[in-house]
Amino acid sequence: MLNKIAEGKTKIVYSSTSSDEVFLKFKDDITALDGEKHNVLPGKGVINAKVSAKIFSLLEEKDIPTHFVKLVDDTTMKVKKLKMIPVEVVCRNVAAGHLVKNYPFFRKGDKLKEPLIEFFLKDDLHHDPLLSEEHLKIFGLMEEKEIENVKRITRRVNEVLREFMEKLGLQLVDFKLEFGRDKEGKLRVGDELNIDCMRLWDLKTGESLDKDVYRKGESLEKVLQTYTKVYKLIVGGEI
Ligand code: C5P
Repeated sequence: MLNKIAEGKTKIVYSSTSSDEVFLKFKDDITALDGEKHNVLPGKGVINAKVSAKIFSLLEEKDIPTHFVKLVDDTTMKVKKLKMIPVEVVCRNVAAGHLVKNYPFFRKGDKLKEPLIEFFLKDDLHHDPLLSEEHLKIFGLMEEKEIENVKRITRRVNEVLREFMEKLGLQLVDFKLEFGRDKEGKLRVGDELNIDCMRLWDLKTGESLDKDVYRKGESLEKVLQTYTKVYKLIVGGEI
């Protein structure tokens, strides 16, 4: 790892000796409410790095283009350098979170007729406003063809992840992806893919096994227990 390029709430980007690749180091920080709630959870960086590596490998096996190259140590992934698009792509199978808060049509746990894909601007200061496809085009964030491509890839990720989680006894309620363009301009899934950015419910009991445990104000001990439990299911073995 050479120089720090950028630091976010939960990760640090470092340059590498190759101009096409960077390192993503996962921190132990956990945040919610657009960064207003913040704690440090020792061990979370390892959990999120290894869960991300496992899920990215799974997507690559299914020919879904991602930035993942390899896990280089317990908290660091080597990834292809992407020009990130500042948009969060959320895919929902079951009503929860903001869908229930903002619209009158659903109660928490209602199954959606088909997976719903939504776009949000990555901007904590403005609380990540919802973007329509017109917004994406007119704001110059994505071209029409890219929007179609992003939706196609997101639906495919949903199928792969849903099946994978079901086998582990988990219901994939929703998840968030971020996309970027590689040096050839090809769209790839970037950022992270772990317990911080998806809702997972125990298929039998409906118990939340994700960051909602933290959002709801449970003790940090309980949050770490939950992350550790999901780590063991997804990655297997001890941390
Ligand atoms: O809060 P909301 O219901 O919109 O979240 C939908 C999904 O996207 C959840 O799985 C949540 O963890 C994820 N998400 C995220 N980062 C955000 C907003 C949502 O990972 N900034």
